[in-house]
Amino acid sequence: MIPRDFIDTLLARVDIVDVIDRRVSLKKAGQNYQACCPFHNEKTPSFTVSPTKQFYHCFGCGAHGTALGFLMEYEHMSFPDAVAALAQDVGLPIPESAQESDRPKPPPALWDALEQAAQFYRQQLKSSPRAIDYLKQRGLTGTIAARYGMGYAPDDWSPLKQVFSDYSADALAASGLVIDNERSRYDRFRDRIMFPIKNIKGQIVGFGGRVLDKGEPKYLNSPETPLFHKGSELYGLFEARAAIKAAGRAIVVEGYMDVVALAQHGVEFSVAALGTATTPIHVRTLLRHTDRLIYAFDGDNAGRKAAWRALENSLEALQDGKEISFLFLPEGEDPDSTIRAHGQAAFLRLLDNDTLPLSAFLVRELASGLKLDTQEGRASLLKQAKPLLEKITAPMLGSLIQRQIAELAHVPANELTQMGVKPTIARRAPPRPTRRPAPSRLRSLARMMLLNPQRVAEVDQAWLDANDPLFEHLADLMTWLRDIGSPSLPSLAEAARGSTLESLVNELMTDLLDKDDSWDWNAEFDGAVRQLHDDWRRRRQQDLAARPLNSLSASERQELVDLARS
Ligand code: GTP
Ligand code: MN
Repeated sequence: MIPRDFIDTLLARVDIVDVIDRRVSLKKAGQNYQACCPFHNEKTPSFTVSPTKQFYHCFGCGAHGTALGFLMEYEHMSFPDAVAALAQDVGLPIPESAQESDRPKPPPALWDALEQAAQFYRQQLKSSPRAIDYLKQRGLTGTIAARYGMGYAPDDWSPLKQVFSDYSADALAASGLVIDNERSRYDRFRDRIMFPIKNIKGQIVGFGGRVLDKGEPKYLNSPETPLFHKGSELYGLFEARAAIKAAGRAIVVEGYMDVVALAQHGVEFSVAALGTATTPIHVRTLLRHTDRLIYAFDGDNAGRKAAWRALENSLEALQDGKEISFLFLPEGEDPDSTIRAHGQAAFLRLLDNDTLPLSAFLVRELASGLKLDTQEGRASLLKQAKPLLEKITAPMLGSLIQRQIAELAHVPANELTQMGVKPTIARRAPPRPTRRPAPSRLRSLARMMLLNPQRVAEVDQAWLDANDPLFEHLADLMTWLRDIGSPSLPSLAEAARGSTLESLVNELMTDLLDKDDSWDWNAEFDGAVRQLHDDWRRRRQQDLAARPLNSLSASERQELVDLARS
């Protein structure tokens, strides 16, 4: 966990205008800055950055947030990575406790070892006609080999001795480059084509190595190390980032060779899981880069099994508005052989026309082999569907798939719930609002409370109007603000991240962008509190007056007299 006060300090230190302007050129417009929104296509600028509120908002697409939020969206960074990047910009050391706690920070020697080894493997490729021939025979050119930093590990027990003067260094074992047995140490990768695996920052975290001829195992991967976690890294993502953005989609393939072969034919937006099933982390990572994911699998049995595992692992990462689909290639084909045989255009046509949406694949597989014309078959369908349906957290897609399963089982959709299938529940806050809700008195009060949490104490929660759309949230907001005592607006926005108040706080921040600095919000707050109190008195008076006098207690009668007098 990153301590809150560190985030506060960090946000106080950075200037959002500076952070954004380095990536998207901003123009001064009144007291704010503007640009064409980097998150959607537009010709006239509706992307607004406020230097005083340290917040951005796009009035076109609704994107909004602090400097941290901007980095996460724009650079596709995780929260801790965005914090680290900003902290580095302003020279703030990150507190110990903030560094990814479950992953101890790997010592720098590990990074160096991997980088030096990769450089060595690249050089070795240049001087190995056998390795070059192998790549050529697989249809790869030097350009693509260079783009992916491919190399060759020579056929020897410890080629890396040529690179590291201290071959016994701990870093070599810790980075997975060598293997220790009782008597000696030797290179993990020998006589293999080397594929460096990079993290999203482009740093090498591990390798995959393929034999040149027949041999076992065909592929050898780095072991799990402090730097390398197969479940979260994707081969080729670093190289594919720009192409994924440009294409508006990403392909997930099974092998290293598929990734490089597709790139060789100009399809540069593919990535591969590393010899393991695609994990929910992979899916979430990819969905941060694009709205459309296509899994391309072999059409054989193994491919179908792998596709099903990918589906199971995608369910919990589904989001409404994003699209995951499957491309099944003919038996015995993989993306590499397909694009080599039929070319880029044919492959793109398959992507456009032959993919099966995740929902259709799910329903098809569940229903296959079942006798849906019998009650037993339908019961079996529901039983198998239940755990899968319950994993889905995208509310709309989840409900639609539930309905389709219900129809197949000949039961009304709402009966699924009675049969024990939990309805789809959105686990995270709903997508950002694109429409600004009508202003209300409570809303303007809430805005001012954000500006000065100390003044929350002046408002009695009993005064709030239960008919106001904001009523329920405002009480929560007041309690939260009272506890938090946070100094600045962006700090509040960050503190709200992930809580039920996140969207409200963001909306209020957006409202505030319109207010200019000459706005006397203290006076407005005084006025609003007075009015709130008056409104409450009027409602209270009407309530009491509407009741028969003899049903009122002595204190209520006195209250009525007091209310009428003032
Ligand atoms: P080529 O034969 O070079 O075209 O590779 P491929 O990608 O078509 O091979 P395959 O479909 O057999 O493997 C797909 C992926 O699974 C590879 O890229 C590896 O990540 C992984 N894999 C394949 N064989 C092995 C193996 O023997 N050991 C390990 N650890 N992983 C393997
Ligand atoms: Mn292959």
